[in-house]
Amino acid sequence: MKEPVRQWVRDARRIVVLTGAGMSAESGVPTFRDAQAGLWADFRPEQLATEEAFRADPRRVWDWYALRREGVARVAPNAGHAAIAGFQQRHPGRMTVVTQNVDGLHQRAGSPGVLALHGNIAEDRWLDRPRACCNLDAIEGGRPPRCAVCGNLRRPAVVWFGEMLPQRELAQAEAAAAACDLMLVVGTSGVVYPAAGLARATRGRVVVVNPQASELDDAADVVLTGTAAQVLPELLED
Ligand code: APR
Repeated sequence: MKEPVRQWVRDARRIVVLTGAGMSAESGVPTFRDAQAGLWADFRPEQLATEEAFRADPRRVWDWYALRREGVARVAPNAGHAAIAGFQQRHPGRMTVVTQNVDGLHQRAGSPGVLALHGNIAEDRWLDRPRACCNLDAIEGGRPPRCAVCGNLRRPAVVWFGEMLPQRELAQAEAAAAACDLMLVVGTSGVVYPAAGLARATRGRVVVVNPQASELDDAADVVLTGTAAQVLPELLED
Protein backbone atom coordinates (compact mmCIF):
# COMPACT_ATOMS: atom_id res chain seq x y z
CA MET A 1 0.00 0.00 0.00
CA LYS A 2 2.83 2.38 0.77
CA GLU A 3 4.52 2.22 -2.64
CA PRO A 4 1.64 3.75 -4.63
CA VAL A 5 1.35 6.48 -2.01
CA ARG A 6 5.07 7.19 -2.25
CA GLN A 7 4.55 7.62 -5.99
CA TRP A 8 1.64 10.00 -5.35
CA VAL A 9 3.92 12.04 -3.11
CA ARG A 10 6.57 12.20 -5.83
CA ASP A 11 4.02 13.17 -8.48
CA ALA A 12 1.97 15.69 -6.50
CA ARG A 13 2.48 19.34 -7.31
CA ARG A 14 0.78 20.50 -4.12
CA ILE A 15 0.40 18.53 -0.93
CA VAL A 16 -1.51 19.43 2.23
CA VAL A 17 -0.69 17.68 5.49
CA LEU A 18 -3.59 17.96 7.91
CA THR A 19 -2.55 16.96 11.41
CA GLY A 20 -4.18 16.29 14.76
CA ALA A 21 -3.15 15.30 18.24
CA GLY A 22 -1.84 11.87 17.14
CA MET A 23 0.92 13.68 15.24
CA SER A 24 2.46 14.63 18.58
CA ALA A 25 1.65 11.42 20.47
CA GLU A 26 5.11 9.99 19.91
CA SER A 27 6.60 13.21 21.28
CA GLY A 28 4.75 12.44 24.51
CA VAL A 29 1.84 14.89 24.17
CA PRO A 30 -1.38 13.12 25.16
CA THR A 31 -4.18 13.10 22.59
CA PHE A 32 -7.64 14.37 23.48
CA ARG A 33 -9.84 11.38 22.89
CA ASP A 34 -7.50 8.53 23.78
CA ALA A 35 -7.74 7.76 27.51
CA GLN A 36 -6.56 10.64 29.69
CA ALA A 37 -4.52 10.01 32.77
CA GLY A 38 -4.74 11.08 36.37
CA LEU A 39 -6.46 14.22 37.51
CA TRP A 40 -8.25 14.87 34.26
CA ALA A 41 -9.41 11.36 33.48
CA ASP A 42 -12.97 12.22 34.46
CA PHE A 43 -13.27 15.27 32.21
CA ARG A 44 -13.98 15.26 28.50
CA PRO A 45 -12.37 18.07 26.45
CA GLU A 46 -15.82 19.47 25.75
CA GLN A 47 -16.20 20.05 29.50
CA LEU A 48 -12.93 21.97 29.85
CA ALA A 49 -12.21 23.59 26.51
CA THR A 50 -15.12 26.00 26.39
CA GLU A 51 -15.63 29.62 27.37
CA GLU A 52 -18.52 28.50 29.54
CA ALA A 53 -16.31 26.08 31.49
CA PHE A 54 -13.64 28.76 31.91
CA ARG A 55 -16.10 31.34 33.20
CA ALA A 56 -17.66 28.80 35.56
CA ASP A 57 -14.33 27.68 37.03
CA PRO A 58 -11.38 29.65 35.63
CA ARG A 59 -8.85 28.03 37.93
CA ARG A 60 -9.77 24.49 36.95
CA VAL A 61 -9.49 25.21 33.24
CA TRP A 62 -6.34 27.34 33.70
CA ASP A 63 -4.70 24.54 35.66
CA TRP A 64 -5.58 21.98 32.97
CA TYR A 65 -3.88 24.20 30.39
CA ALA A 66 -0.94 24.85 32.71
CA LEU A 67 -0.37 21.11 32.85
CA ARG A 68 -0.57 20.79 29.06
CA ARG A 69 1.76 23.78 28.65
CA GLU A 70 4.35 22.25 30.93
CA GLY A 71 4.03 18.99 29.03
CA VAL A 72 4.54 20.68 25.67
CA ALA A 73 7.52 22.68 26.90
CA ARG A 74 9.27 19.47 27.98
CA VAL A 75 8.90 17.53 24.72
CA ALA A 76 10.48 17.73 21.27
CA PRO A 77 9.30 17.21 17.70
CA ASN A 78 9.38 13.54 16.60
CA ALA A 79 10.56 11.81 13.43
CA GLY A 80 7.19 12.53 11.79
CA HIS A 81 7.44 16.30 12.34
CA ALA A 82 11.05 16.15 11.09
CA ALA A 83 10.07 14.22 7.94
CA ILE A 84 7.45 16.85 7.06
CA ALA A 85 9.80 19.78 7.71
CA GLY A 86 12.59 18.06 5.78
CA PHE A 87 10.32 17.54 2.75
CA GLN A 88 9.25 21.19 2.87
CA GLN A 89 12.85 22.35 2.97
CA ARG A 90 13.85 20.11 0.05
CA HIS A 91 10.74 21.08 -1.96
CA PRO A 92 9.93 24.72 -1.21
CA GLY A 93 6.32 25.69 -1.90
CA ARG A 94 5.01 22.16 -2.50
CA MET A 95 3.68 21.27 0.93
CA THR A 96 1.42 23.16 3.36
CA VAL A 97 0.95 22.06 6.96
CA VAL A 98 -2.50 22.65 8.41
CA THR A 99 -2.66 21.63 12.05
CA GLN A 100 -5.27 21.40 14.76
CA ASN A 101 -2.44 21.13 17.28
CA VAL A 102 -1.64 24.02 19.58
CA ASP A 103 1.71 22.58 20.71
CA GLY A 104 3.96 24.39 18.20
CA LEU A 105 5.91 21.21 17.40
CA HIS A 106 5.64 21.57 13.61
CA GLN A 107 7.05 25.07 13.91
CA ARG A 108 9.83 23.88 16.21
CA ALA A 109 10.69 21.12 13.72
CA GLY A 110 11.25 23.83 11.10
CA SER A 111 8.03 23.74 9.07
CA PRO A 112 7.48 27.14 7.43
CA GLY A 113 4.06 28.86 7.26
CA VAL A 114 2.18 26.41 9.48
CA LEU A 115 -1.57 27.14 9.51
CA ALA A 116 -2.48 26.59 13.17
CA LEU A 117 -6.27 26.43 13.07
CA HIS A 118 -6.74 26.09 16.83
CA GLY A 119 -4.25 28.68 18.08
CA ASN A 120 -1.14 28.35 20.21
CA ILE A 121 -1.06 27.03 23.74
CA ALA A 122 2.06 29.02 24.63
CA GLU A 123 0.17 32.32 24.31
CA ASP A 124 -2.52 34.04 26.40
CA ARG A 125 -5.08 36.67 25.56
CA TRP A 126 -7.75 38.66 27.39
CA LEU A 127 -11.02 36.87 28.09
CA ASP A 128 -13.16 39.97 27.58
CA ARG A 129 -12.43 42.77 25.15
CA PRO A 130 -9.51 44.65 26.75
CA ARG A 131 -10.33 48.00 28.32
CA ALA A 132 -7.92 50.92 28.70
CA CYS A 133 -6.81 49.54 32.06
CA CYS A 134 -5.98 46.05 30.74
CA ASN A 135 -2.26 46.39 30.55
CA LEU A 136 0.18 43.49 30.41
CA ASP A 137 2.69 45.40 32.56
CA ALA A 138 0.23 45.84 35.42
CA ILE A 139 -1.16 42.36 35.56
CA GLU A 140 -2.07 40.68 38.83
CA GLY A 141 -0.56 37.19 39.06
CA GLY A 142 -2.74 34.22 39.87
CA ARG A 143 -4.45 31.24 38.29
CA PRO A 144 -5.41 32.80 35.94
CA PRO A 145 -3.72 36.21 36.02
CA ARG A 146 -6.10 39.18 35.85
CA CYS A 147 -6.14 42.92 35.21
CA ALA A 148 -5.38 44.53 38.55
CA VAL A 149 -7.97 47.26 37.85
CA CYS A 150 -11.04 45.67 36.26
CA GLY A 151 -10.43 41.97 36.90
CA ASN A 152 -10.46 40.95 33.22
CA LEU A 153 -8.92 37.48 33.08
CA ARG A 154 -6.13 36.11 30.91
CA ARG A 155 -7.02 32.94 29.00
CA PRO A 156 -5.09 30.57 26.74
CA ALA A 157 -4.94 31.76 23.12
CA VAL A 158 -6.48 28.57 21.80
CA VAL A 159 -9.77 28.01 20.01
CA TRP A 160 -12.37 26.52 22.30
CA PHE A 161 -15.47 24.56 21.34
CA GLY A 162 -18.09 26.91 19.96
CA GLU A 163 -15.52 29.58 19.00
CA MET A 164 -14.62 30.85 15.56
CA LEU A 165 -11.38 29.69 14.01
CA PRO A 166 -8.89 32.37 13.00
CA GLN A 167 -10.44 33.44 9.70
CA ARG A 168 -7.24 34.14 7.78
CA GLU A 169 -5.71 30.76 8.61
CA LEU A 170 -8.96 28.95 7.85
CA ALA A 171 -9.31 30.70 4.47
CA GLN A 172 -5.71 29.83 3.59
CA ALA A 173 -6.26 26.22 4.66
CA GLU A 174 -9.42 25.99 2.54
CA ALA A 175 -7.60 27.41 -0.46
CA ALA A 176 -4.72 24.97 0.04
CA ALA A 177 -7.15 22.05 0.37
CA ALA A 178 -8.97 23.10 -2.80
CA ALA A 179 -5.73 23.38 -4.76
CA CYS A 180 -3.84 20.27 -3.63
CA ASP A 181 -3.55 17.00 -5.51
CA LEU A 182 -2.74 15.05 -2.36
CA MET A 183 -3.78 15.43 1.27
CA LEU A 184 -2.15 13.45 4.07
CA VAL A 185 -4.43 13.30 7.11
CA VAL A 186 -2.27 12.38 10.08
CA GLY A 187 -3.26 11.59 13.65
CA THR A 188 -6.73 13.05 13.84
CA SER A 189 -9.94 11.38 14.93
CA GLY A 190 -11.69 13.56 12.34
CA VAL A 191 -14.61 14.46 14.58
CA VAL A 192 -13.97 18.21 14.97
CA TYR A 193 -15.14 20.57 12.23
CA PRO A 194 -14.36 22.67 10.26
CA ALA A 195 -10.85 21.10 10.29
CA ALA A 196 -12.11 17.63 9.40
CA GLY A 197 -14.15 19.13 6.57
CA LEU A 198 -10.95 20.05 4.72
CA ALA A 199 -10.36 16.35 4.01
CA ARG A 200 -13.85 16.08 2.56
CA ALA A 201 -13.58 19.28 0.51
CA THR A 202 -10.42 18.44 -1.42
CA ARG A 203 -10.55 16.98 -4.89
CA GLY A 204 -7.05 15.63 -4.46
CA ARG A 205 -6.29 12.15 -3.24
CA VAL A 206 -6.66 11.61 0.51
CA VAL A 207 -4.36 9.36 2.53
CA VAL A 208 -5.10 8.77 6.21
CA VAL A 209 -2.20 7.87 8.53
CA ASN A 210 -3.44 6.58 11.86
CA PRO A 211 -2.89 3.45 13.97
CA GLN A 212 -6.65 3.30 14.69
CA ALA A 213 -9.81 3.71 12.66
CA SER A 214 -10.87 7.35 12.25
CA GLU A 215 -13.99 9.22 11.16
CA LEU A 216 -12.21 10.23 7.95
CA ASP A 217 -11.41 6.72 6.73
CA ASP A 218 -14.44 6.80 4.44
CA ALA A 219 -13.06 9.92 2.72
CA ALA A 220 -9.67 8.27 2.12
CA ASP A 221 -8.33 6.75 -1.08
CA VAL A 222 -5.89 4.83 1.12
CA VAL A 223 -5.67 4.29 4.87
CA LEU A 224 -2.15 3.61 6.13
CA THR A 225 -2.44 1.91 9.50
CA GLY A 226 0.56 3.07 11.49
CA THR A 227 1.93 5.92 13.52
CA ALA A 228 3.13 9.31 12.33
CA ALA A 229 6.76 8.75 13.34
CA GLN A 230 6.82 5.34 11.62
CA VAL A 231 4.98 6.09 8.41
CA LEU A 232 5.92 9.67 7.46
CA PRO A 233 9.71 9.25 7.20
CA GLU A 234 9.22 6.37 4.73
CA LEU A 235 6.53 8.18 2.81
CA LEU A 236 8.32 11.50 2.46
CA GLU A 237 11.93 10.49 1.80
CA ASP A 238 13.12 11.25 -1.72
N1 APR B 1 0.35 8.53 15.10
C1 APR B 1 -0.76 8.87 14.39
N2 APR B 1 -2.00 8.93 14.94
C2 APR B 1 -2.12 8.62 16.23
C3 APR B 1 -1.03 8.25 17.04
C4 APR B 1 0.26 8.20 16.42
N3 APR B 1 1.35 7.88 17.09
N4 APR B 1 -1.48 8.01 18.30
C5 APR B 1 -2.81 8.23 18.29
N5 APR B 1 -3.21 8.61 17.04
C6 APR B 1 -4.54 8.96 16.59
C7 APR B 1 -5.69 8.35 17.34
O1 APR B 1 -5.99 7.06 16.83
C8 APR B 1 -6.81 9.35 17.07
O2 APR B 1 -7.48 9.04 15.86
O3 APR B 1 -4.69 10.35 16.79
C9 APR B 1 -6.07 10.68 16.89
C10 APR B 1 -6.25 11.65 18.03
O4 APR B 1 -7.58 12.08 18.04
P1 APR B 1 -8.08 13.26 19.02
O5 APR B 1 -7.56 12.99 20.38
O6 APR B 1 -9.54 13.36 18.83
O7 APR B 1 -7.32 14.55 18.47
P2 APR B 1 -7.72 15.55 17.31
O8 APR B 1 -8.33 14.83 16.16
O9 APR B 1 -6.54 16.39 17.04
O10 APR B 1 -8.82 16.45 18.00
C11 APR B 1 -9.34 17.55 17.32
O11 APR B 1 -10.39 18.38 19.30
O12 APR B 1 -10.34 18.86 21.58
C12 APR B 1 -10.17 19.32 20.33
O13 APR B 1 -9.16 21.32 19.74
C13 APR B 1 -8.86 19.99 20.09
O14 APR B 1 -7.56 20.13 18.08
C14 APR B 1 -8.29 19.25 18.91
C15 APR B 1 -9.54 18.72 18.23
